[in-house]
Amino acid sequence: MAREGQRAPGLDRRSVVMGAVACCAAGGAAFAGPEDTLPQKGDRLVLADGAKAGQAVTLDGLPVGGELIEAVAVDPQGVRREGSRFSKIILVRVAPDQVAEDQRAHAVEGVVALSGVCTHQGCTISGWNHETKRLSCFCHHSEFLPAEGGRVAKGPARKRLPVLPLARGEGGALMVAGGFIGKPGPGAA
Ligand code: FES
Repeated sequence: MAREGQRAPGLDRRSVVMGAVACCAAGGAAFAGPEDTLPQKGDRLVLADGAKAGQAVTLDGLPVGGELIEAVAVDPQGVRREGSRFSKIILVRVAPDQVAEDQRAHAVEGVVALSGVCTHQGCTISGWNHETKRLSCFCHHSEFLPAEGGRVAKGPARKRLPVLPLARGEGGALMVAGGFIGKPGPGAA
């Protein structure tokens, strides 16, 4: 379980360091990715990594108070949308009434999805603290509020994390209801 001061499952120190190196060495040009690697309306979400990679992300697999999930979108033909760092999607779940009113249309029963790329310098967002309802980036310790549209709670990041609108599919499967709201990746507020 990824809580404050911890990393998401599968993320070791090397992963974090490599993420930091990749973000800072590559510069802005590395963040340009083809549109078809981004999640699109009608895609389904599957677990990105680990022993259960490829399994559908469902409401049952995301209990309130549970861990951060890393997912990838799969198009209607069954092809994973990946190949860009912007393909990264993270999901967390809070109680439905803790989702800000203006964000509820994008959430499913308290589940919210966001870009997994920090808007500061592009590291992977991997920390989640259910108590404070904050996501965190371990590169420079920015924090974001996923239930409030990815708003920045603590810098140095200044731009909110783009939200990915969700829809409920058959059997509680989580589907993509639209593209990211906002451009994923580093940028100004
Ligand atoms: S890359 Fe700097 S806080 Fe995330």
